[in-house]
Amino acid sequence: MKELVMIVRPEKLEVVKGIIDKMSLGGMTVGTVMGCGAQKGAPGADEQGSREIRGLKTTINLIPKIRISLIVEDRHVDEVVREVCESCATGRPGDGKVFVRNIEDVIRIRTGERGEWAL
Ligand SMILES: Nc1ncnc2c1ncn2[C@@H]1O[C@H](COP(=O)(O)OP(=O)(O)OP(=O)(O)O)[C@@H](O)[C@H]1O
Ligand SMILES: [Mg+2]
Repeated sequence: MKELVMIVRPEKLEVVKGIIDKMSLGGMTVGTVMGCGAQKGAPGADEQGSREIRGLKTTINLIPKIRISLIVEDRHVDEVVREVCESCATGRPGDGKVFVRNIEDVIRIRTGERGEWAL
C-alpha cells in the first residue's frame, strides 16, 4: 500500500474527489493547509501571491492549498497520479505536488481487519 499526499489548488478539490469516486477507492483525509513551493509564494508566481500582508513585508508568502491523503493499493498509484496531474495542471506555477510513501499496515478499528482488506 501507498499513501498519496496530494497538495492541490483549493478549486481542484471537487475534481480530485470525482477521480477517487470514479475509481471506487476507499476513504480519504482532507485538510486546508498553507504552503509554498519553489517560488516561495512570490507575487506573480501564483496568482494569489502577495508579499505584503496588511503592510507587513514577508520574505516567504504562504498560500492556501488543499492537502488530500489517500491510501491505496500499489496497483492504483499510477492511475491516480496520472488523472490528478491531468485534471489539476493549469500550466501556471502553484499547481501542487503528489508525495508517495509506503504504508506498512492498516487496521479497521470496527472489525480488526488488516492490510488491503481494511482500506
Ligand atoms: N518540497 C516541498 N515540501 C513540502 N511541501 C511542498 C513542497 N513543494 C511544494 N509543496 C507544497 O505544494 C504546494 C504547491 O507547490 P508548487 O506547485 O508551487 O510547487 P513548485 O515546486 O513551486 O512547482 P511550480 O514551479 O510548478 O510552482 C505548496 O504550497 C506546498 O504546500
Ligand atoms: Mg511553485
